[in-house]
Amino acid sequence: MPLVTFSNPDYKDKTVYAVAGSHTETILKLAKEYKVPLHHDCQDGECGNCLVRVTSVDRKGRMSGFLTDKERGVLVELGKLTKDDIDRIAVDDMPSEWRLACQMIVRDEDILVEY
Ligand code: FES
Repeated sequence: MPLVTFSNPDYKDKTVYAVAGSHTETILKLAKEYKVPLHHDCQDGECGNCLVRVTSVDRKGRMSGFLTDKERGVLVELGKLTKDDIDRIAVDDMPSEWRLACQMIVRDEDILVEY
């Protein structure tokens, strides 16, 4: 069962046990379900208000994650991804540490979500 820990310097950390294998829940949906005060607006990958930093907290390291063109564009616009980052992610099949919570699906991995 994946563990998702939400962290913000203004709030006490909150650890959520996500449902393994659902592969349909976004970070934002999980945050709302567990009343984590994660900023959001459009919920459609356009405004960038739900920007989060995601890191691994288990030994396996992060699983790669698919970025849609829309999410990639917003992350570039926010200055969180460069062209080099995009190339590295594509070539090395690496995950981006910056994600939009409304776009990232929770996978079977333990992660820290800073918001
Ligand atoms: Fe707007 Fe996620 S809520 S991009």
